[in-house]
Amino acid sequence: MVLEGLLLLAIVSVITFAPITPLVATGLSLLALCVILSGVRLIMQMAPPFVPTTMRHVQKMIAFADIRKGEHVYDLGCGDGRLLIAAAQKGALATGYEWSLPTLLLAKIRTRKYPTITVRRADFWEQDYRDADVIFCYLLIDKMAIFEKEIWPMLKQGTRVVSHMFPMPAVKPAKREGAVILYVKH
Ligand SMILES: C[S@@+](CC[C@H](N)C(=O)[O-])C[C@H]1O[C@@H](n2cnc3c(N)ncnc32)[C@H](O)[C@@H]1O
Repeated sequence: MVLEGLLLLAIVSVITFAPITPLVATGLSLLALCVILSGVRLIMQMAPPFVPTTMRHVQKMIAFADIRKGEHVYDLGCGDGRLLIAAAQKGALATGYEWSLPTLLLAKIRTRKYPTITVRRADFWEQDYRDADVIFCYLLIDKMAIFEKEIWPMLKQGTRVVSHMFPMPAVKPAKREGAVILYVKH
């Protein structure tokens, strides 16, 4: 929401104060509308906001994930793409879904030099994870309950789910250290 606010402020300032053509003003107004809509969507669905995982925790999540070259790694709500970058550096084919427009742009910019990273503007609840080897989550407690019900059952045997902070209600973790929790699908 903070990023949405800053981007909106920047767009409104440009439209108000910069000498721009009506066509550019229309384009910027449409962009502003998209930013407002993605903010409204976050609020309406009480979705996890963009709070990045600290680099210390990123390192721990990567260690827990034990990524091998060529594995499919997903980050559910990839934020600025930091987990995707760390996973790609381990040789993963990393995919991030993010629906907040400013956060998505940030992720696109940060990951542009990594050909094995894909960042898509999409709702992560609506994706297929049957080929996932590793899934990263930094969601909220109620969202982990939905994850357990809707995504966990579709995962193949051996998939590792590494959650920052929030556990699944019923599945027993394979390992937990501080805020980082590892699950392995059997
Ligand atoms: C707590 S942040 C975590 C960011 C990143 N995974 C990390 O650990 O640094 C959660 C992110 O999920 C995004 N998000 C929330 N619900 C989403 C959904 N249904 N589909 C796609 N992105 C979503 C938010 O915009 C936010 O950037």
